[in-house]
Amino acid sequence: MNCKEIILSRKSIRDFSSTPVPAEVIDDMIVAAQVAPSCQNKQPWRFIFVDDPNLIKKLALQSGFIGTVNFFIKKAPLVVVACANPKDSCHLNQQPYYLVDVAIAFQQMMLMAWHHGVGSCWLAAFNEQQVKNILGIPEKTKIVAMSPFGYPKQKKSFYSKTVSKFARSKHRLPKKKIVSFQKWNF
Ligand SMILES: Cc1cc2nc3c(=O)[nH]c(=O)nc-3n(C[C@H](O)[C@H](O)[C@H](O)COP(=O)(O)O)c2cc1C
Repeated sequence: MNCKEIILSRKSIRDFSSTPVPAEVIDDMIVAAQVAPSCQNKQPWRFIFVDDPNLIKKLALQSGFIGTVNFFIKKAPLVVVACANPKDSCHLNQQPYYLVDVAIAFQQMMLMAWHHGVGSCWLAAFNEQQVKNILGIPEKTKIVAMSPFGYPKQKKSFYSKTVSKFARSKHRLPKKKIVSFQKWNF
């Protein structure tokens, strides 16, 4: 796939085969994040790669409703947790940019994975404190996102069909709603 095809075909994957993500693919994913741009080149991102099935199960089982929403990650062979310490952030326009930096790097990682046929799904619905406890993440570090990684299973589960329907995953705002030319015109 070329770059355009990778970007246009990416979608959230919630059903994974048990095939592990090969080490070469993981290396490429790491490089993709490493070369990402960041505000003042601060590179505040830190990524934890979790392939221990017991830890993945614990991540999937975080208590409370918010955690159970993403129980599907239990079947993924790899979960990556994207973090940053806000004190490492660049600040401009009265806002910290670490969220932007981590998001760019994580998305680059996901697109590189997709180039290798490995799917992922951004997750924000997790219990941050529980995930910190499970992985020993320091108190002052923020978990920006996490994602399962793995080869997509051909047959979608009822659960993933429901989530993607609920999230209206195929729906996109029309161009004129998201872009104006020369001046603000929304
Ligand atoms: C910041 C962010 C948080 C998200 N959190 C979740 C989540 O917790 N669980 C989930 O199943 N999908 C989550 N998603 C995936 C979105 O539902 C999905 O990207 C959207 O419906 C568009 O579908 P697509 O990725 O297949 O194009 C999240 C996406 C983003 C960018």
